[in-house]
Amino acid sequence: RKKVTIQTLRKLYEKGEPITMLTAHDFPSAHVADASGMDMVLVGDSLGMVALGLENTSEVVMDEMILHCRSVARGAKAAFLVGDLPMGSYEVSAEQAVASALRLVKEGRVHSVKIEGGEELAPTIKRITQAGVPVVGHVGLTPQRQNALGGFRVQGKTAASAVKLLQDALAMQEAGAFMIVLEAMPSEVATVITEKLRIPTIGIGAGNGCSGQVLVQVDMSGNYQPGRFVPKFVKQYADVWGEAARGISMYRAEVKSRAFPSGEYTYPISKEELAGFQK
Ligand code: KIV
Ligand code: NA
Repeated sequence: RKKVTIQTLRKLYEKGEPITMLTAHDFPSAHVADASGMDMVLVGDSLGMVALGLENTSEVVMDEMILHCRSVARGAKAAFLVGDLPMGSYEVSAEQAVASALRLVKEGRVHSVKIEGGEELAPTIKRITQAGVPVVGHVGLTPQRQNALGGFRVQGKTAASAVKLLQDALAMQEAGAFMIVLEAMPSEVATVITEKLRIPTIGIGAGNGCSGQVLVQVDMSGNYQPGRFVPKFVKQYADVWGEAARGISMYRAEVKSRAFPSGEYTYPISKEELAGFQK
């Protein structure tokens, strides 16, 4: 498979072909996403919840992002890589944001960074872009700001808030973002935002009118204990937890009964050597 570049993504957008994006948080999850043809792989700060066992994304720090970005970069051969700038790594100043973005690219080996917020980040996005790092904006439900939003809630359900989302997306585009993630908003709102922009939008819980889609890999692959909460927008395409649990239960039973390891899983020794050993 040919390496996906920013030009490849531009061509997909111009052709109207949906852009596919999936999260990964380590070597194997990146490898399978890449081998299955994803155009883009995102090392989201959902890392905190899916890999580090945290309650939310706000606690994730740069060093954690870098370690996981590096692992993902080793597993993804062709996909275009995006790394999330975690909360606290970009808000203080544009200088701080540029330094963090450069660390994610140089140490984390991703190709671009994603930043949550709105028009207030325009100067920051401009500076990061000028430093040679492509930027993905993220508007709508911005999980890092859950304490300010009052939890994980759908955004843009009123005319005024939908207008604000459009303004945020436009401002990020004008500042130089090459793509915008639209999270958790009515499909009609995301469709209008997509039509008004001249850069691709990637939806998550934002309907089918976006230029592409993203999901969190552990959500869509069913890599969760059944019964765990998943958002309304998650379609579960596989049952990775079920398969892993089935295999592990069988392994456990066979170890307990000594059915495993049978002969085919053991190393031979010649009769002569064994006799010599047993003397
Ligand atoms: O952290 C993440 O996985 C994300 C996606 C849900 C867009 O930001
Ligand atoms: Na994120």
